[in-house]
Amino acid sequence: MSTALGYRAFGGADVQEFFDRPVPSPGPHEVLVRVVAAGVNPLDHLLRSGHVRALNGHLPFPQVLGMEAAGTVLAVGADVTGLAVDDRVAGFALTGAGTYAGTTLLSAGATARIPDAVPETWAATIPVAGTTALDVLDQVALPAGASVLVNGIGGGVGIVLAEMARDRGLVVVGTGSAAKRERVAATGALFVDYTAGDVVDRLREYAPGGFDAVLDMVGGASLRAVAPLAAKAEALVSVTDQSVAELGGAYVRRRLDRSGIERVAELMADRRIDPHITASYPLARADEALALVESGHAAGKVVIDMRL
Ligand SMILES: NC(=O)c1ccc[n+]([C@@H]2O[C@H](COP(=O)([O-])OP(=O)(O)OC[C@H]3O[C@@H](n4cnc5c(N)ncnc54)[C@H](OP(=O)(O)O)[C@@H]3O)[C@@H](O)[C@H]2O)c1
Repeated sequence: MSTALGYRAFGGADVQEFFDRPVPSPGPHEVLVRVVAAGVNPLDHLLRSGHVRALNGHLPFPQVLGMEAAGTVLAVGADVTGLAVDDRVAGFALTGAGTYAGTTLLSAGATARIPDAVPETWAATIPVAGTTALDVLDQVALPAGASVLVNGIGGGVGIVLAEMARDRGLVVVGTGSAAKRERVAATGALFVDYTAGDVVDRLREYAPGGFDAVLDMVGGASLRAVAPLAAKAEALVSVTDQSVAELGGAYVRRRLDRSGIERVAELMADRRIDPHITASYPLARADEALALVESGHAAGKVVIDMRL
């Protein structure tokens, strides 16, 4: 048995409960992993709330929270290639096993070995935030020296996106609330406090002819406000709001594969990027970790560290 945080019905944080579950057996395309760290993401509470039932409406209860983890392989499914028992890995739990748990099943095609130089707490942030940042940057494929606006730069995806963009030689400007200013400045990005008024005018001062890409982490009215700042409509990409298509832009094309995780892990191993982990919680306080992310104003990444 291993302890897990999950829910037996869709709803608010009050439906969450800790329970013991049997150690699961890997299907043909899965690996069983002893979880060392799990990333905490907005999608976790959206799934719990029942807002994305296309992803989990068909799964039995109790469902366990969490989409991503890093840890050590305990067993591999019959058809798994490239991964072996005792490997240190990071990956997605795409088939609903959850990762706020002592053990879980990761999808082998979306799980990669991680270099020794990458701690599990960092690795646990790669599948969701890390590869989202990679995918959106690859999608716009900007040359060094190009300008990029990151709308919502202070959160889990935004901050690692700022790091990756700097590594590619891009000129980065980002929006966030005042509390994010110092952290964002540490990435080398320019910062605009969206709570201080006239955000679009102040952003335009940085790029009078428009940004070579506008990458949105926020959606809704905020996306609509910054969309005209893209030099070309097709240079507008949102990772969170599918209605970006109505503005001529595109939703992020997610690859969810092993090679993306490997590429982000290499960048971390070489210390070219830092995921900016700002809060680590033991599994026994995983509900607090998720509440912080559910507030909508977490800085950088929040992780659950099973060793705490
Ligand atoms: N499509 C995918 O595969 C994919 C993958 C990962 C994430 N996502 C989605 O992308 C979004 C961001 O994810 P995340 O992990 O970065 O979330 P997060 O860590 O919770 O960060 C969200 C950030 O948005 C900022 N923010 C809120 N309102 C803002 C506004 N009006 N202008 C500028 N910044 C604002 C908040 O900072 P302040 O405190 O400064 O407001 C917060 O730091 C979420 O909706 C998530 O579901 C999608």
